[in-house]
Amino acid sequence: MHHFLKETDFSLEQAQEVFTLAKELKANRLNGPRALNQQSWGLLFYKSSTRTRISFEVGVNELGGYPVVLNSQTTQIGRGETIEDTARVMSRYLHGLVIRTYGHEIVEAFAEHASMPIVNGLTDFNHPCQLYADIFTLLERYSPEAMDIASLRGKKVAFLGDTACNMANSWIHTAAMFGMDITLAGPDGFAPSATIDAALKADGLPKNYRITQDAEEACQGADVLYTDVWVSMGNEAEAEERKRRMAPYQITTELLALANPNAYFMHCLPAHAGEEVSQAVLDSPQSIIFDEAENRLHAQKAILAKLVELNR
Ligand code: CP
Repeated sequence: MHHFLKETDFSLEQAQEVFTLAKELKANRLNGPRALNQQSWGLLFYKSSTRTRISFEVGVNELGGYPVVLNSQTTQIGRGETIEDTARVMSRYLHGLVIRTYGHEIVEAFAEHASMPIVNGLTDFNHPCQLYADIFTLLERYSPEAMDIASLRGKKVAFLGDTACNMANSWIHTAAMFGMDITLAGPDGFAPSATIDAALKADGLPKNYRITQDAEEACQGADVLYTDVWVSMGNEAEAEERKRRMAPYQITTELLALANPNAYFMHCLPAHAGEEVSQAVLDSPQSIIFDEAENRLHAQKAILAKLVELNR
């Protein structure tokens, strides 16, 4: 069974096919291939969501499938039914399952026990669907005809703020996969964990990211400036401490001016203007945040279609 739990669960060749298909699906949104013809896909949420929930529900529908939206607390998971049994039971009804949850081991356990494809809709470790939408958004600009992933090679990404979060991990993994150059700038004590280093090693990818505490150094000559909220879901108790320590890493027009003149500002959203990014940067012509959000739909439809093809 082919699952999508991390960015490298598709080979480079398969990822290229996903981005090519996403372009076709975006150009032909309502009359494209109905790859999920009459399939029922579960969308299981342990955590809040706007973009992931809506883009998958709409996407499954547009691919000819039926989305079954589930909340962990209103299923028997919330009363202690095991993942093993839940995965086996759900596999008797559903043709695939998207999961947004806490620990990455939860999606891995579903994948181990399910007999249907599992898609990671965000864990505390990573957010691969967001990264495929982000890369698709960049390919629309770097290689709009061919969507050629080779156009990503050598592009410089600066990730500022919470450099230990799931989005930072996903960017590290993605940059290594596509040959991009990444520098992370954040406060002392927020370095990426050994888990992402182990994940790179397991995939035979180089540990090629740099970490600095100097926001200006990271932004100098960058092609992409990226940030995420400073207080991720689950970090609420540390909110004030995080905001104080991450304040020097707010992406401002001054930092944007240090980047390549054609640089893009990206954010997975939701954004907190005045914290990780200024309102002026969010509103600037270099900000492509709403294209990113839209592209969750098109990229994820392509991911689901590719999984159906690979599991046929
Ligand atoms: N970026 C993202 O995953 O958004 P949601 O939390 O709204 O799904």
